[in-house]
Amino acid sequence: MNSISGQAGHQLFPCSLPWAHIPRSAKTCSIKMLFVFRRYQNLLLNCLLKIILLLYSYRYLDYAYLLSEQVDYSWSFKELERSETSYLTHSYHTYPAKFIPQLAARLISENSNIGDLICDPFMGSGTTLVEAIVNGRRTYGTDISPVAVLITKAKTTPIEPQNLERRVYSLRNTIKHHPINENKQTLLLKDDDDLAVVLPTNKRIDYWFPEKQKHDLSVILSGVMSIEDEDIRNFLLCAFSNILKGCSRWMMKSIKPTIDKNKIINDAYHSFFIHAYRMLKKNRVFWKKLEGKKIDCIVDNVDARKMRIHDDSVSLIVTSPPYVTSYEYADLHQLTAIWLGYIDRLSEFRTRFIGSIQKEHNQSKLYSDIGKATVDKLRLIDKREANGVEQYFFEMQQCFEEMYRALKHGGRISIVIGDTDLKKVKIHNADVLLQAMEKIGFRVYDIIKRPIPSKILPLTRDEKTGRFVATTKSDRLAYPTESILIMEKA
Ligand SMILES: C[S@@+](CC[C@H](N)C(=O)[O-])C[C@H]1O[C@@H](n2cnc3c(N)ncnc32)[C@H](O)[C@@H]1O
Repeated sequence: MNSISGQAGHQLFPCSLPWAHIPRSAKTCSIKMLFVFRRYQNLLLNCLLKIILLLYSYRYLDYAYLLSEQVDYSWSFKELERSETSYLTHSYHTYPAKFIPQLAARLISENSNIGDLICDPFMGSGTTLVEAIVNGRRTYGTDISPVAVLITKAKTTPIEPQNLERRVYSLRNTIKHHPINENKQTLLLKDDDDLAVVLPTNKRIDYWFPEKQKHDLSVILSGVMSIEDEDIRNFLLCAFSNILKGCSRWMMKSIKPTIDKNKIINDAYHSFFIHAYRMLKKNRVFWKKLEGKKIDCIVDNVDARKMRIHDDSVSLIVTSPPYVTSYEYADLHQLTAIWLGYIDRLSEFRTRFIGSIQKEHNQSKLYSDIGKATVDKLRLIDKREANGVEQYFFEMQQCFEEMYRALKHGGRISIVIGDTDLKKVKIHNADVLLQAMEKIGFRVYDIIKRPIPSKILPLTRDEKTGRFVATTKSDRLAYPTESILIMEKA
């Protein structure tokens, strides 16, 4: 071996080279190392790459977690452009933790048949319902938030385009070309047909909106409310709701209600009609796609634990439940809820939402051992958070019992859920919910780990401001994967 490497060394590096003067033993040693390196170079480079990735990931990405899972990249949909994920009515309204429509569509087509009943007990902005409709299924959805109900109704209702467009242009003319009287309470149209402008009295509106925006929004809302056709009214209320944050002092992208003192606040008329015109285009496509087809869709506003749906009637549930103490939906929807008169007291409104930290803690019987251990660990650090998590796991159990009731035998439930971090304690939501479902009687059909493309990674929030910050700038880690649990009712 020695002589071979020595000879090889002489052939490779003739004496005329400068290192011909280096002692023979050192040369032999270097050549040996080179030989070893050449032989194992792929392995060595591979190891080096993994070490670099690991070091990098521990700082920025919690990559160790990613490596430990079998990730199915076909579920990432990272190749999709925004125009593709916002097709049909999906861009009518922004919504926190919204599904990628293609994900809902794939779950529906792989787990149900045409004509089946598809349900989403936490429908949010109605992504599952829209996809169920366009894929020829019947559908039922519910959400505790009236704002979610408004959005979903608008998104699942195609409207005859010419009629809708005529009504929107007429509203624009009414608002644009008619003066408001001195006391600012009537829009002067024809002599006998003036439009009463209702100015809101809720103090929170003065907190969030400058006087001009408050006034202009009142005019728009009064005009919309005067429309008799319920579908057209809902369509325009959805547009109205979607522009409210931009027309207020609300810090955009913040998940806590926070005032942005430096914000350039949008003009209400401009924002409203621009958005309504965009929605008109989407409605045209939606209408065309469904023309002549029967739509069987029920949008409900009850608690997920009390769905108004028969026993053993649902073929498939496609849903993403609220996350524990991640989003306070009541807070996030408060501008719409106040303008449209959905709430009297915000504190009461909050308690209706599963996952809210504001909920009263009154339960402790958890089915999941992992859930119990997590709560115990968290209790040592923060009692209030621990109670919130325990209440969340308990209420999710109740939801699964209700889903079990509604599902047909052999029917499936697909839950999209990720893990979270609270006070540096990892909350293994997927494991806890899986254990609870098994206890209720579901059996595992499939478990998929999907990567979340970096462009839609759940950003991490700054503890102080509530602002979203990029994962790389945060001390907390965002999890780059989530689970799709597909369970079957035996
Ligand atoms: C993650 S979001 C669903 C987003 C939805 N997949 C979408 O594409 O828009 C969870 C939803 O659960 C709703 N929710 C919270 N508590 C609820 C309850 N007790 N009953 C029904 N819905 C509830 C929230 O209002 C929120 O809309």
